[in-house]
Amino acid sequence: MILVTGGAGYIGSHVVRDLINMNFKVTVMDNLSTGHRSALPPDVDFIEADLLNESLTREILLKIRPQAVIHFAAKSIVSDSVANPLTTFNTNVVGTINLLKAMQLSGTKSLVFFHPPPLSMASRRKHRSRRAMR
Ligand SMILES: NC(=O)c1ccc[n+]([C@@H]2O[C@H](COP(=O)([O-])OP(=O)(O)OC[C@H]3O[C@@H](n4cnc5c(N)ncnc54)[C@H](O)[C@@H]3O)[C@@H](O)[C@H]2O)c1
Repeated sequence: MILVTGGAGYIGSHVVRDLINMNFKVTVMDNLSTGHRSALPPDVDFIEADLLNESLTREILLKIRPQAVIHFAAKSIVSDSVANPLTTFNTNVVGTINLLKAMQLSGTKSLVFFHPPPLSMASRRKHRSRRAMR
């Protein structure tokens, strides 16, 4: 079974449909902060949960023990990351760390991870400021 985090979002919901069409068994975990339950087939296994809830994330992974995780749960709007950097950082970094810890405990070794733009922006900014110091 494949766990798709953020599977009710824009990209995740398309991937969930493709996986189901390819006969994979899929479970979606999403807090519906920007995603929509209606974007998914009604019969897909759906868990409404927040990756920032570390103990719940651990509990879920230990219960379902996915073979692999495809991780889309993120704050992906760049302007939001500028307006609310801590909120974005928390979801994209702390949420991902919580997921990785839970995967380690559940023995899930395969992860497909979509690098959220705010993180790439942060590293580009660091790169630019290094250049400015030269
Ligand atoms: N949309 C694009 O064009 C694009 C391009 C390249 C990469 N990406 C990356 O793909 C990923 C998904 O992007 P998207 O456009 O589908 O965004 P989206 O906002 O539509 O989907 C994100 C999903 O994650 C869920 N979510 C957010 N925080 C959560 C949390 N703490 N716990 C559980 N669920 C949570 C949201 O409810 C939503 O369903 C992001 O990492 C994004 O940066 C997107």
